[in-house]
Amino acid sequence: MIIAIDGPAGSGKSTVARRAALQLGFHYLDTGAMYRALTVAALARGIAPGDAAALEDLARTMPLRFGYADGDPLPSKVFIGDVDVTETIRKPEVDRQVSEVSAHPAVREAMVDQQRSVAQSDSYVIEGRDIGTVVFPAAELKLFITASPEERARRRAAQNAERGLAADYDTILVAIRARDDFDSSREVAPLRPDDDALCIDTTQLSIDETVALVVDLAKETRG
Ligand code: DC
Repeated sequence: MIIAIDGPAGSGKSTVARRAALQLGFHYLDTGAMYRALTVAALARGIAPGDAAALEDLARTMPLRFGYADGDPLPSKVFIGDVDVTETIRKPEVDRQVSEVSAHPAVREAMVDQQRSVAQSDSYVIEGRDIGTVVFPAAELKLFITASPEERARRRAAQNAERGLAADYDTILVAIRARDDFDSSREVAPLRPDDDALCIDTTQLSIDETVALVVDLAKETRG
């Protein structure tokens, strides 16, 4: 069974997707982390975010893998070869470039191929922007998780503060709005709920409430 979870930055979808996967005993794939890792690899090699051909080549050849932190039941670490980029992929410069990197059709094709081959067997919770619309249009359950931009900026600021990253609310709100606009208006695979996706607005919901809702919906769907 595939559960596709899409939605904008800071909607809580990553936390919800991870916890739901854990409770359901499903695997978990964070496709945003893949686009972020590609951006890190491109920055390290001096590849411009507009260079579609070089980015596609990198997307098809870079040795990207997920790994487990000690005692972690789901993969939470990201490696390119032997280099641990788990923290680097969350840096503000990556936030700024990842939308442009991920907007190239050829780059998306390379990523979608990998996402499909990873999750072709077994049960997966997969999160991203285009999982229900493009990657797994036949997913048994499609969810679109969102929240108001202000609430998302508040959550991201708190998360960044915890991680010791830049956490100014106003700066984050501006960046979130810019990324929303870019991700929703791009030509290929724009961020939007699929026609048969269920929309969950988490502005007024706690993480626990949202996870419980997702787990219930999955159990109902599975029958
Ligand atoms: O979920 P995230 O914030 O880590 O995603 C980072 C960026 O990657 C986001 O700006 C859009 C892009 N992305 C995408 O285009 N398609 C996906 N399936 C996942 C992420």
